[in-house]
Amino acid sequence: MLRSVLIGTGSALPRRAVPNAELAEKVDTNDEWIAERTGIRNRYIADDDETTSSLATAAALKAIEAAGIEAATIDLIVLATATPDQTFPASATIVQNALGCNGCIAFDISAVCSGFLYGIGVADSMLRSGAAKRALVIGAETFSRILDWEDRATCVLFGDGAGAVVLDARDESGDAPRGILATRLHADGAHNQLLYVDGGPSTTGTVGHLRMKGREVFRHAVVNLATVLNEVMAETGLEISDIDWLVPHQANARILDATAKKLGMPAEKVIVTVDQHANTSAASVPLALDAAITDGRIKPGDLVMLEAMGGGFAWGASLLRI
Ligand code: UT7
Repeated sequence: MLRSVLIGTGSALPRRAVPNAELAEKVDTNDEWIAERTGIRNRYIADDDETTSSLATAAALKAIEAAGIEAATIDLIVLATATPDQTFPASATIVQNALGCNGCIAFDISAVCSGFLYGIGVADSMLRSGAAKRALVIGAETFSRILDWEDRATCVLFGDGAGAVVLDARDESGDAPRGILATRLHADGAHNQLLYVDGGPSTTGTVGHLRMKGREVFRHAVVNLATVLNEVMAETGLEISDIDWLVPHQANARILDATAKKLGMPAEKVIVTVDQHANTSAASVPLALDAAITDGRIKPGDLVMLEAMGGGFAWGASLLRI
């Protein structure tokens, strides 16, 4: 059976680390509030010369190196971002040109914090249908450019970065096939005013700033994530106890704890990077995945669940064997 097998991961962060204390010099906040309410201690903020596409390219190059492949063998690039370099062309084409795999399919996906999961779902469908053979799926963001730096309720929560994976279409059968086993995606536009950007080409003509009703988003996130994770488990016939690692979207340590608790999953199985990266939207899942693969926690054969929820609302989960 044809499956999308993960053969390499990579990530990239801006040069500049910004700890909570530095933000407390600019807005009315403090390290204690941020750390206690969110688990965040640090984030990375892009300088002017660091863009979504430059971070995405750096992450992609590392994933390609880890996979031990030539960039020219990639025939599909899916870049999930809510902060593209320009309104158009797709930032995926800028990455494509930098990598030198011109001519292949390349496009962006807009599903905000769930963008990487949407990217995985779309790439997996295309690989299994034969539309492509080797995919680069990237989540990359420069949310610092759309933050209202006078709004303490949001500006302390986000950071910039990129993560990438290479997926290869391979024939995998047997009892424990490698690759993506199931993906479930959802969206509900009834809630799009709880987390949005107040600008855009077709409305204000400006880029706008992020606005969020955090408490409401939090409430929906825990419920939606637990539901979609159970849907994926039902589709695969596996049990929550079979999962070796949960790699969640890194929005808030309290959401990670609450979701794990709701599923009856021990906290030691949850990969946490929100303390160092803050919320990097579409980049957060591949950044966390790469961190745990690079440091040796996630090993070949492990069963890994990815999940995310954010603006739209859009949410999803994907189960894969490494
Ligand atoms: O990635 C997309 C998905 N996004 C999320 O999942 C975010 C989900 N939401 C959250 O993570 C949390 O709701 C937040 C971290 C955003 C906020 O935590 P909270 O416990 O829900 O706090 P709150 O918004 O209810 O605010 C509590 C208090 C308020 O003061 P009063 O009204 O109680 O006097 C805020 O003004 O905390 C105040 N506050 C702050 N204080 C110091 C808000 N932001 C700050 C701040 N520093 N940065």
